[in-house]
Amino acid sequence: MLLKRFLGEANLLIVAHYSVKGQSLVVDCCGDAFMFAGMRNKKAPQSPAGTSTAVEDYLERILELINSKGYARVIDIAAALKISQASVTNMVQRLDADGLLKYEKYRGLILTAAGKKLARRIAQRHKLLTEFLRLLGVDDRVIHHDVEGMEHHISPSTLRAIAALTHQLQRRPALRAQLQDGAL
Ligand code: FE2
Repeated sequence: MLLKRFLGEANLLIVAHYSVKGQSLVVDCCGDAFMFAGMRNKKAPQSPAGTSTAVEDYLERILELINSKGYARVIDIAAALKISQASVTNMVQRLDADGLLKYEKYRGLILTAAGKKLARRIAQRHKLLTEFLRLLGVDDRVIHHDVEGMEHHISPSTLRAIAALTHQLQRRPALRAQLQDGAL
């Protein structure tokens, strides 16, 4: 099935989280501590679903980490997104405030049902768009670059059209060969 769902159990390793007068201090499993005050980016780019692309990127990476490692730590998210751990910690507080993930004392950071739903949706979009471009014969590096942008901005109706076209391309090897040879 093209839009196959997948999700493991979340278990982010933030070992301590203190909150004093609106300021928060998070200490991760490496002993690194970060102060933050829940700053928001008011003009963040939005996806058609109304979620910021940054939020979608975080949820997508967190889901990938959970699926591949069984957990996602701040340090791993920072490495995956190529940003500072302080920035990740800031976003973690935002996602917590938005009800997309939460910190549990003994389980670490986990995705809520809403967080899982959004993360699965972006993962499905990524998978479908990757499959579609691959069937067109696009180079893997270009696919990765393009999909990471497209997945945040594509509308549901266009996504449905691409899903239908992808299905046809999967069933028609002759048409695929023509496309990949540049014969059309
Ligand atoms: Fe993606």
